[in-house]
Amino acid sequence: MSKKRLFWAINLPAELKSSIAGWQSMLRRVPADVKWVEEQNLHLTMKFLGDVDAGRVETLVQAVQPRMAQAGPANLDFAGIGFFPSAGRPRVIWVGVRGEVRKINLLKENMEMAMAAFGLPHDNKKFSPHLTLGRLRSARGAGELAQKAVTISEKAALMGSVQVTTLDLMESKLTARGPHYTLLASVNLHRV
Ligand code: 2AM
Repeated sequence: MSKKRLFWAINLPAELKSSIAGWQSMLRRVPADVKWVEEQNLHLTMKFLGDVDAGRVETLVQAVQPRMAQAGPANLDFAGIGFFPSAGRPRVIWVGVRGEVRKINLLKENMEMAMAAFGLPHDNKKFSPHLTLGRLRSARGAGELAQKAVTISEKAALMGSVQVTTLDLMESKLTARGPHYTLLASVNLHRV
């Protein structure tokens, strides 16, 4: 059976992506060895599922749907630039998420339970919601990038806000020009 490479995400409105890409462009000027996330691809990953049988997608969405209205919509603010695993050893550069993060954590937990019932393994790592801006290929320029991130974080107290009303199931197709994401389904977070 054919497979689809899937992940659950929180997508952002175009204006917010544009505003974040504006801050990202300041970082891009640093001569560091980074694979930057394209503006249209900026998103907050809730769970990476990997390859799933295409025929199971509908059942997967139905498994999540009834568990999602518990927390209700979440208001999130995007601010601060950080690094995984640390600024001293940066591998991933990201924008931080603030505000009703507790609701996002609840959403994550409920979604994990639904995915476990579906037979997909629970993420064991602590969930740290973040918006990936880029992934470092090597340490070249990493120190300068970390410095620039501090300067920008001081300037940009708030990069933007969003009311999250859906959890989105995305398909990722890997191409020579980078990943191509398609929205497969949106699960509503409004209380019914
Ligand atoms: P990230 O935002 O934390 O980097 C879509 O591929 C998303 O799934 C990526 O943005 C990435 O989240 C996340 N992801 C997690 N594990 C992954 C893996 N093994 N391969 C690709 N993406 C993964």
